[in-house]
Amino acid sequence: MTVCEFRAGLEGVPVTQSSISFVDGQKGILEYRGIPIQELAEKSTFLETAYLLIWKELPTKEELEAFKNEIRYHRRLKYRIRDMMKCFPESGHPMDALQACAAALGLFYSRRALDDPTYIREAVVRLLAKIPTMVAAFQLMRKGNDPVQPRDDLNYAANFLYMLNEKEPDPLAAKIFEVCLVIHAEHTINASTFSAMVTASTLTDPYAVIASAVGTLAGPLHGGASEEVIEMLEEIGSVENVRPYLDDRLQRKARIMGFGHRVYKVKDPRAIILQELAEQLFEKFGHDKYYDIATELERAVEEKLGGKGIYPNVDFYSGLVYRKLGIPTDLFTPVFAISRVAGWLAHWKEQLNENRIFRPTQIYTGLHSVPYVSIDDR
Ligand code: SDX
Repeated sequence: MTVCEFRAGLEGVPVTQSSISFVDGQKGILEYRGIPIQELAEKSTFLETAYLLIWKELPTKEELEAFKNEIRYHRRLKYRIRDMMKCFPESGHPMDALQACAAALGLFYSRRALDDPTYIREAVVRLLAKIPTMVAAFQLMRKGNDPVQPRDDLNYAANFLYMLNEKEPDPLAAKIFEVCLVIHAEHTINASTFSAMVTASTLTDPYAVIASAVGTLAGPLHGGASEEVIEMLEEIGSVENVRPYLDDRLQRKARIMGFGHRVYKVKDPRAIILQELAEQLFEKFGHDKYYDIATELERAVEEKLGGKGIYPNVDFYSGLVYRKLGIPTDLFTPVFAISRVAGWLAHWKEQLNENRIFRPTQIYTGLHSVPYVSIDDR
């Protein structure tokens, strides 16, 4: 076995061959199955995009209708999952609740038939259908209320906002949320997708795979950054305080949340789309002063760090959109997870075809042949 050179964080190390999505970090290009993200954001829906990612092609009208009907049918949760959620502490983070529920789904569908296309489709449908219901249910239950049942007459995006806010969303809000789901769905081999792949490589069930990925996405260096960005903007408090704040953070070698990316060395194309969505929302529902702080921070960071290729990533503007949609700050990452389930499942399914367990090696820096010292002699 030849040992490759050590690369911290596996930077630049290909761990798979995939045709699901493509990113050019220098040009700011993102494509799903070769289709530019800008086209999908403008013309597609989340379920159509999920179908494209998972089954390689855009569905026909009949295929999409059948898929939507299956998702609609499976949106409801088993009452035992809801009962389990009633035992969760209100103070718990929604990502921990989601990870527990995703793993618990496996208790109900424990058959592992990874060579059966019907089983694979059922798992895909159940996870895409039930994850939004879980996120919305936890939100209502942690406020002491009963969760509301999904509404079959609402599409995927509108139904989530309905379950979360207990009222039908404004059509523009639903459309903008749909675009957010499309552009968060997939992003090559990011940390949570890689986590899903490593878990999947042992041939465990897809519910365990998604639970692994949810746990990974939760971290502040990954999907958790969107929540941190809003906290940062609130801490800055005013446009005048942007530069003093930035200077202080940089002096302390602290990270500016929502900026920087392992691959993008220009502004994340998704941040550009999210900024446009934010402006559409502000025009209709009123301005948000934190947007002025954010744009000033973007200018200031570009002056200081643009030379190092540090620009806004997907998490920088997403929180400002979600706030306007009535989504609580600590639900931003669960919303990211709702969307990224599509990408995680696409990689899970793609990997099943040529699976080999992930088992990397190490460069050993420890000692050898060390004698055991009994506790009385230590
Ligand atoms: C997502 O991978 C994906 O595709 C992820 C994602 C997806 O769709 O799945 O795009 C979603 O996770 C977006 C990223 C959200 N995270 C954040 O916003 C957290 C803040 N960003 C950083 O922590 C950082 O940029 C990472 C984690 C995103 C990337 O880290 P890398 O590639 O390991 O970069 P690094 O830590 O090696 O930093 C390289 C240099 C360092 O400076 P030097 O020590 O070389 O002088 O850039 C600096 C870093 O200090 N740097 C930053 C910075 N990010 C990198 N300096 C200040 N603020 C930052 N945000």
